[in-house]
Amino acid sequence: MSKNNDSFMVSIKDHKTVQHTASKTLLETIELHQIEVQYHCREGYCGACRSKLICGKVEYTTDPLAFIDDDEILPCCCIPISNIEIKLG
Ligand code: FES
Repeated sequence: MSKNNDSFMVSIKDHKTVQHTASKTLLETIELHQIEVQYHCREGYCGACRSKLICGKVEYTTDPLAFIDDDEILPCCCIPISNIEIKLG
């Protein structure tokens, strides 16, 4: 009963639900499915990729430096640790 990141689903409001690919950031998983997403630095400091986390949990791979509200995430530097629902930018 091992669970890895590969099994988490990412539901993107107004788009579709995709499966998170282990070893990729959330941003990379979204891009992999040809969903248009804003980004710039890809390192957590510009805030261009800022998105709403509607439900679920993420974990940061590097500390986000851009300002984000409690219900916001930076997909460029996080990975889902549960099934999540997000709304892009
Ligand atoms: S792309 Fe710059 S914070 Fe995510």
